[in-house]
Amino acid sequence: MKVGIEAIAFHSPEHYVELTDLAEARGIDPDKFTKGLGQLKMAVATPMEDTVTLAVNAARKALENFDIDYDDIGTLVVGTESGVDHSKPVAVYVHEALGLRPNCHTYETKHACFGAMAAVFSANDWIACGRADGSKALIVAADIARYPIGDPGEPTQGAGAVAMVISDTPNLLQFDSEISGYYTKQVMDFWRPLYSTKAFVDGHYSIECYLNALEGALADALHKATIPELYRMNQLQACIYHVPFAKMAAKAHHRHFEVDAGEKIDKESQRFADVRTSFAEKTGPWLSLNAIVGNIYTGSLFLSLIDLLRRSPSAALRQISMFSYGSGCAASMNVAYLTPGCDRFRQQIDPEPELNARRKLSIDQYENIMRISDSLGRGDTQEFLASEWDLTSEFLYLGNKNHIRRYSGLECGPPAAREYGPLSASTHH
Ligand code: HMG
Repeated sequence: MKVGIEAIAFHSPEHYVELTDLAEARGIDPDKFTKGLGQLKMAVATPMEDTVTLAVNAARKALENFDIDYDDIGTLVVGTESGVDHSKPVAVYVHEALGLRPNCHTYETKHACFGAMAAVFSANDWIACGRADGSKALIVAADIARYPIGDPGEPTQGAGAVAMVISDTPNLLQFDSEISGYYTKQVMDFWRPLYSTKAFVDGHYSIECYLNALEGALADALHKATIPELYRMNQLQACIYHVPFAKMAAKAHHRHFEVDAGEKIDKESQRFADVRTSFAEKTGPWLSLNAIVGNIYTGSLFLSLIDLLRRSPSAALRQISMFSYGSGCAASMNVAYLTPGCDRFRQQIDPEPELNARRKLSIDQYENIMRISDSLGRGDTQEFLASEWDLTSEFLYLGNKNHIRRYSGLECGPPAAREYGPLSASTHH
C-alpha cells in the first residue's frame, strides 16, 4: 500500500522582524545573522497568535486547498513543544475549531522538534496496517520559538505551523516503508523547564548533538535497508533536514556527505568543492522559506519540504531523504518519493504571497510583544482586540477568563463555568 502526504499547508504569524534591524539593535555585524546563520527575517507571533491559532489556520488551509472532506479525518495529532496547557492538548482545541467527527483519535505529541515527525511515523503505521479503514490522518506541527532578548539564540526565533494530511492517496509524497533509521540519546543541549516561557540552550553543544544524531540515524537506516546502495547520496535528488537556521542545514549536509563518502572532508580538502556542489544541488534550493520565517521547531523540516514541493518539477526530482532532529535528543532519517504529477499542486502549496503580505515590526514593537507574551499565562487577562495588534486572521486567541483560554468562535469552558461563575483551582479536585 502507498502511504504519504496528500495535502500540506503552512501558516505564519502576520508580523516579522528584519534580522539586519535586530543585528543593529544588538550592536552585531548583520553579516553574522544573514551569512553566518543564513537567516534574513524571523516571524513573530503577537499575543493573539498562539500554538492553537497557528495550528487551526494551517489545518484549515490544508483541508480547504486540497478539497478534503473534514469527516474523512480519523486521526488528529498536533506535534508541539509550545503547548498551552500542562494537561489539555492543543489538538482538542483544533478538533473543535475544525468541527471534526467525535470518533476522531486526537492527541498531542512532544519531543522537542521531533514531535511532529514522530506523529507522521505513527500515522503512516496506522494507515499501512489497515486500521484507518479509509480515514486520513491530520498531523499539525505548530510552534513558537523563543529565546531571551539578547541571547545568541535570539536571531534563530520564529513561529508557524505546517499541517499535513497523511493518507493512502499520497498525491504529493510517498514514504519508503523500508528505510527509516532512529537515534536517541539523553543530552542537555536545549530544554525548557515547566516554569520558563523561553528555552535554555547550550548552542554550540546543540550543533554537535544534532550532527552526532544525524550520523546515528543514518547508520541505522542504512543498516536496516535490504539494498543500502539504493539510498546512497548519488541516488538522492534532494536531502532535506531539520532547519533551526539555514546554515545548520549546510552543516548537516556536509556531515551526511562525509558519512556517505566514508571520509572526513574539512574545508581545506580538495573534496570540499564536491560537498559545496552537492549542497547547492540537493539542499540549498529548499531553504528560502526557512530563511524568512526562522525556526518553527516541529515544522522546520516540513517547511523545507514545502519549499521543495512548490519549486520542483516532479519529473526531475524523485528520491529524497528527510532528517528530523529534536533536542534532548531524538532523530530519524527516512527516504520518500515525490509523486509523479505533484507539480500540479504547486500554487496551492506556495505560502510566499502570504509571507510577503506580513507586516514588519520595529525592534521596540518586537520587544514589547516579548514582554507582554512573558506576562501571559498566569491568570485571567483583558479581552484582546485584533485591531490593537494589526491582525486580519479570523481565528485568534482572545485571552483568559476564569482560567479558560478563549478563541474567536469557540465555546470554550465547561457549562458550570458559564452558568455558575468563576472556577477556582480546587473546584477541579
Ligand atoms: P553564536 O555563538 O552567537 O554564533 O551562536 P557563532 O559565533 O557560532 O557564529 C555563527 C556563525 O556565524 C559561524 O559560522 C561564524 O563563523 C559566523 P560557522 O563557523 O558555524 O560556519 N559569523 C559570521 N559570518 C559572517 N560575518 C560575520 C560573522 N560573525 C560570525 N561578521 C548558535 C550561534 C547557533 C549557537 C546560536 O544562535 C544558538 O544558540 N541558537 C539556538 C540553538 C540552535 O539553533 N541549535 C541548532 C542545533 S539544535 C536544534 O536544531 C534543535 C532546536 O531546533 C530545538 C528543538 O529541537 O526543539 C534548536
